Amino acid sequence: MAQEFIGIDEMVNNPQPETKSLRLPVLKGTLGPSVVDVRDLYKSKKIFTYDPGYTSTASCTSKITFIDGEQGQLLHRGYSIEELASQSTYLEVAYLLFNGELPTKDEYAAFEKEITYHTLLHEQVIHFFRGFRRDAHPVAVMIGVVGALSSFYHDSLDIQDKAQRDLASLRLLAKVPTIAAMAFRYSQGHPFMYPQNNLSYAGNFLHMLFGYPTESYEVDPVIERAMDQLLILHADHEQNASTSTVRMAGSSGANPFACLAAGMASLWGPAHGGANEAVLYMLHEIGDKSQIPKYIEKAKSKKDPFRLMGFGHRVYKNYDPRAAVLRESCHKVLEVLGIDDPLLELALELEKMALEDEYFLEKKLFPNVDFYSGLIFKALGIPTPMFTALFAVGRTAGWIAQWREMLEDPETKIGRPRQLYKGEKLRTYVPIVKR
Ligand code: ACO
Repeated sequence: MAQEFIGIDEMVNNPQPETKSLRLPVLKGTLGPSVVDVRDLYKSKKIFTYDPGYTSTASCTSKITFIDGEQGQLLHRGYSIEELASQSTYLEVAYLLFNGELPTKDEYAAFEKEITYHTLLHEQVIHFFRGFRRDAHPVAVMIGVVGALSSFYHDSLDIQDKAQRDLASLRLLAKVPTIAAMAFRYSQGHPFMYPQNNLSYAGNFLHMLFGYPTESYEVDPVIERAMDQLLILHADHEQNASTSTVRMAGSSGANPFACLAAGMASLWGPAHGGANEAVLYMLHEIGDKSQIPKYIEKAKSKKDPFRLMGFGHRVYKNYDPRAAVLRESCHKVLEVLGIDDPLLELALELEKMALEDEYFLEKKLFPNVDFYSGLIFKALGIPTPMFTALFAVGRTAGWIAQWREMLEDPETKIGRPRQLYKGEKLRTYVPIVKR
């Protein structure tokens, strides 16, 4: 296909204002908007593009995940999130994200076995937990312990060696739930539970979260499936803040354990993965349906920093498809567990009133994945500070897949944005005695 170009009028203000025309190449993907290739712009024209928050910038090419924000569509390697959430398992989705294709029966069995046999932590890692305060946030603990893995697994730190990259990928996918569960148990003052190889990925995670050494833990199949589905729904979401952080950290050649710790730090913020926790606190604060109009007005007011947590998304200008799946399974889980949670009623009413409000309609602010996930986590008996930790467990598959893809892409360069400098020009230093 012939190369396409786009013409851009360039205003050159210095020394004499004049307009010059630029011809820039246009690159096309399989789906989604085309991109203007500005890679040679600085070299040829000595100007940068300006795009804080990357609202119009593609930072890489990828074959992993596609989002159509206008249609509310999410695809992993071409498969819709709705099909994956209803028919697949988290481990199968992880395999798909890593390798590009669904596994055969044998490939799946081998992958599951590999993951299962890497869930234990080096015994020495466990001492790290005891250095944290009991009231430390579980994500703070996870960031520390996942980063510390780089000081244990020296045989999977060479990122140039594919076999070592594969080993680090398996280790991370297998060990992050163990670390999350231990962070939780530590905060409760309860004994750590070692992984059980006869359990599924989600079942083992539940066992490590809720089991006791004094009795056997029966994994409830409904809860096990709900947990697995939650992990699938969080598995990947193309170039979001935490994934871009993992790629950026990895672009310098940093080891995978350090890169994932960096991704977790980015996820933790309330504008990203921290929102699921914030939704629950917000619903508690609203407290009663009669208070909803007051909080909607607060969210709309420019003078008030309050935002409706779990609403809005950089990419989705339609209903987040993950929220749609969760909205439905939230009802199912609560029904099966026989829980009558007034917070769900409150959430449904808040959603209804917000979606009827001109402000939210005009700005295309719809519920995102975090709006309903917290209610399910709560129904499963998971305390609020653990919500973002669970998001991190699910997103681990996507972080690893994106990190691997970045390292295998011959176009990858160290991530190094430029800036529009608005500071002082060169001036002479004045010694302190003369100031
Ligand atoms: N409540 C009220 N107003 C909102 C909300 C909200 N939740 N979200 C966005 N707006 C408004 C903004 O005030 C802004 O209004 P303006 O154009 O009049 O200034 C407009 O909508 C656009 O918002 P931006 O913040 O510019 O959009 P951006 O794409 O940068 O941010 C974000 C997206 C961070 C998700 C934002 O919608 C938000 O803060 N939501 C609440 C937190 C949340 O739920 N985060 C989870 C995101 S999903 C995830 O990470 C898994």
